[in-house]
Amino acid sequence: MSTLVAQKAVTVPWIRSQKGQSKITMLTAYDFPMATLLDDAGVDALLVGDSLGTVIYGEPNTLSVTMEDMIRHTRAVARGAKRALVIADMPFMSYQVSVEQAVANAGRFLKEASAQAVKLEGGAEMAETIRAITRAGIPVCAHIGLTPQTLHAMGNYRMHGKSEQERRYLLESAREVERAGAFAVVLECVEESLAREITAAIEIPTIGIGASPHCDGQVLVSYDLLGLTAGRVPKFVTQTAQLRDQVIAGARAYIDRTREVSVSATQAPHGAVGAPSVSATQAPNGAVAAPSNDEGKGHAPSH
Ligand code: KIV
Repeated sequence: MSTLVAQKAVTVPWIRSQKGQSKITMLTAYDFPMATLLDDAGVDALLVGDSLGTVIYGEPNTLSVTMEDMIRHTRAVARGAKRALVIADMPFMSYQVSVEQAVANAGRFLKEASAQAVKLEGGAEMAETIRAITRAGIPVCAHIGLTPQTLHAMGNYRMHGKSEQERRYLLESAREVERAGAFAVVLECVEESLAREITAAIEIPTIGIGASPHCDGQVLVSYDLLGLTAGRVPKFVTQTAQLRDQVIAGARAYIDRTREVSVSATQAPHGAVGAPSVSATQAPNGAVAAPSNDEGKGHAPSH
């Protein structure tokens, strides 16, 4: 089924207006090429997640990601996004120390990286921070349920909202972040019936990840969705492509083609092997000829 993509740039009010309308689509992006691809595909929002740490830098968790990492990657994504809303994830310890520091760091994403909104983890306990950032004119997407930055406090990655106490906390948190001015809230690994209840209870859109189809939108780590992740992906991800296989096949084809060229080039006209492989670009008479394949083209320095 083809998807109709509105040409207009996505704005925060548009995201809010989609509550109960069409499902909001959000994917993570960390660099310019992926941002252009996902934007061309018509995804509504690009989240420069702090999953940057694990997905791009191979770290075991997101805790080591810095403001400088996030600013640089957000700027690259923003350059590639023509239509999609760009949301920057606030990294661990960039908003927990003080409300003032949170506002200043959130502002850096708009000033230095051209993000249009920020996301931060935490529920009711983050309401004051969300209020201060939104008062500064910076749209905030909240994030509750599984919050990877509190990994050590949580003990492990698991579903949230199984106990009555947790359900009450999450429902109250969703209401609190809405009251504080958040324009949307990510529900990560929130138990299905609770995700549905929260979605019905608040007026801002819920964006689910492993939290059932009942949310107003969905977000996924693009590398997981598109089959670029080496190893296991979370159970809730239904992959739509296997790009790792394609990249490996493409690289192998290049390796084979390159080796074939150098093998045939090292054979003298009468079939003897031994001439240096540089003769791949030499005509039989020894004159240097144009490369026979595209390895000789492109990326030539202009100076
Ligand atoms: O960092 C991230 O990619 C996220 C999403 C998974 C919601 O926070």
